[in-house]
Amino acid sequence: MGIFNNFFGKFSRDMGIDLGTANTLVYVKDKGIIINEPSVVAVNTRNDQILAVGEEAQKMIGKTPAHIVASRPLVDGVISDFEITEKMLKYFIDKVHRESFSILPRPRIVIGIPLGVTEVERKAVEDACLSAGAREVFLIEEPMAAAIGARMPIQEATGSMVVDIGGGTTEIAVISLGGVITWKSIRIAGDELDKNIIQYARDHFNLLLGDRTAEVIKLKIGSAFSSEDPLTTTMRGRDLITGLPKEVEVNSNHVREAISRSLRQIIENIKSTIEITPPELVADIFERGIVLTGGGALLNNLDKLINRETKIPVHITDDPLTAVARGTGIVLDDLEALKEVLADSVDANTFKN
Ligand SMILES: Nc1ncnc2c1ncn2[C@@H]1O[C@H](COP(=O)(O)OP(=O)(O)OP(=O)(O)O)[C@@H](O)[C@H]1O
Ligand SMILES: [Mg+2]
Repeated sequence: MGIFNNFFGKFSRDMGIDLGTANTLVYVKDKGIIINEPSVVAVNTRNDQILAVGEEAQKMIGKTPAHIVASRPLVDGVISDFEITEKMLKYFIDKVHRESFSILPRPRIVIGIPLGVTEVERKAVEDACLSAGAREVFLIEEPMAAAIGARMPIQEATGSMVVDIGGGTTEIAVISLGGVITWKSIRIAGDELDKNIIQYARDHFNLLLGDRTAEVIKLKIGSAFSSEDPLTTTMRGRDLITGLPKEVEVNSNHVREAISRSLRQIIENIKSTIEITPPELVADIFERGIVLTGGGALLNNLDKLINRETKIPVHITDDPLTAVARGTGIVLDDLEALKEVLADSVDANTFKN
């Protein structure tokens, strides 16, 4: 540390990153969230060149010729393709740096990791940041970052329950005094709901849907409750019998039926997390309610369904898609006061001395 670091610290573009299965967000000190793009990379496999990252690459999914692959380098919240993840991070970090003076020192990065990941998976995130240009990396468990972003009183002696429903994972955590007390992490979240819709269309209409189409249907008319006056939309895909294009009218009750099993699994895991939580903290949760973060929190009526099943008040945080990134930003701005909430680093020298 010392004067040198303090001096440059004032000018460096330190960053908080939410490296999500579906979306990557970058918070920059004093600027806010300046990158918010899908975690997708398009690569030309003939020469291993990156053709597009983020928004632009997402448009190519399912529409590429044989030598181009548009894919998501994270699966279920963890890095599945290290090289591509590193390139994606480097692209986003360079994009931030391009807008500032090139003499700036390399940034410090606070980045979220899912709960319960292995040492190898943690190290992969750390290494990806370092080789993408970070000078120092601080890991934080995603639900902790989400709770901080949602301004929950995580450092107090009170139980705060956060449920972060992302693309790949749903992370359920009870936090008190700056630490995660009880938690569950399951690989059922937004992507799984899309898969449920694809399966439903196949089973009920012999209709093959693309991933993106299924997601759009979920965003348009998805609901956790059935309704007497459901919204409708058209699903377009390929008829599995004739092989020709086909469209079918569906409503939100169909979608609810398709996703209900997954929603039930999410709720069962919320309940079982409460079951293993010490009673004093459970009392706090009853009083303060469960806070939902992540894009999945935006599914219509999901808050009401969770409330009905658990009998606990449920609140959706403002702008749930950015909660983790905002949380990493808050930690970045006050690293000294909040270092106790950071996850243990793989390289113990990075912070503990
Ligand atoms: N209005 C909405 N209704 C239902 N689902 C939504 C809505 N908006 C976004 N989503 C879903 O939220 C998910 C993305 O959320 P988010 O960006 O929090 O995930 P992530 O952080 O990238 O993933 P993870 O945390 O699992 O690594 C996607 O599955 C998307 O379909
Ligand atoms: Mg997330």
